[in-house]
Amino acid sequence: MTNQTDTVFASADIQEQILQAFHFRHATKVFDPERKIGDDEFNTILESARLSPSSFGMEPWQLLIVQSPDKRELFRDFTWGANGAFNGTAGQLGTASHFAIFLAHTGATMTHHSDYLQRHMKEVKQLPDEVIGFINGAYQKFQEQDFGIEGDRQITDWSARQAYIALANMMTTAALMGIDSCPIEGFEMDKASAVLEQYFGIDPAIYQPVVMVAFGYRAGAPAHPKTRRELDHLVTWA
Ligand SMILES: Cc1cc2nc3c(=O)[nH]c(=O)nc-3n(C[C@H](O)[C@H](O)[C@H](O)COP(=O)(O)O)c2cc1C
Repeated sequence: MTNQTDTVFASADIQEQILQAFHFRHATKVFDPERKIGDDEFNTILESARLSPSSFGMEPWQLLIVQSPDKRELFRDFTWGANGAFNGTAGQLGTASHFAIFLAHTGATMTHHSDYLQRHMKEVKQLPDEVIGFINGAYQKFQEQDFGIEGDRQITDWSARQAYIALANMMTTAALMGIDSCPIEGFEMDKASAVLEQYFGIDPAIYQPVVMVAFGYRAGAPAHPKTRRELDHLVTWA
């Protein structure tokens, strides 16, 4: 049994651990290429993505984990945010223990009433038909009226927004385990999409790369101390 005092102490410990993890995490530019993340720890990172929330529970993203050095090299030329060109290193692409690419679902699967969504609600979410019918209507209104998500690019961007929730959870989970990470938007989307189609068989009409993320253990201390706006500059209470 925990009494109130225990709860307060436990909560204080957890708060400290969480904040330590947020201070520890930084956008790691170069990882120690000799240090690999264990399978159990990486699975925990993946679980934090899988269990992440998504709008309407539609889970509109996939993760491609690129481990083969040859395959990672296919992205080097146009992935300026992870190729180390700016600091003369092999970059995150060449040094990360694990390198992942988030693929956002496009309008082909995420437009209201799509076959894919019907299957998802029935088979994954195990919803009864009447609830599926209700969600179909609400989701159509959401897309067409509430959020005005009309074109394929807008639907892909909406999917990407859900992917970023998982991305953030993965990086926080990693940091809590002392594992470093770097989110990466520094790449040319069209070229990444073309490589994914040609070498990985990923249909660009269905999936678009939206953000990458590298994991591993830092090769050295961060180059700069963390800088952020003060809390009262970014939070307004009303
Ligand atoms: C969505 C996103 C994309 C980013 N893309 C890159 C990138 O391509 N390459 C890189 O080295 N850092 C990238 N960063 C890291 C940011 O520059 C970094 O988070 C920011 O400067 C704050 O520094 P800190 O994360 O070390 O505290 C990205 C961050 C986010 C959230």
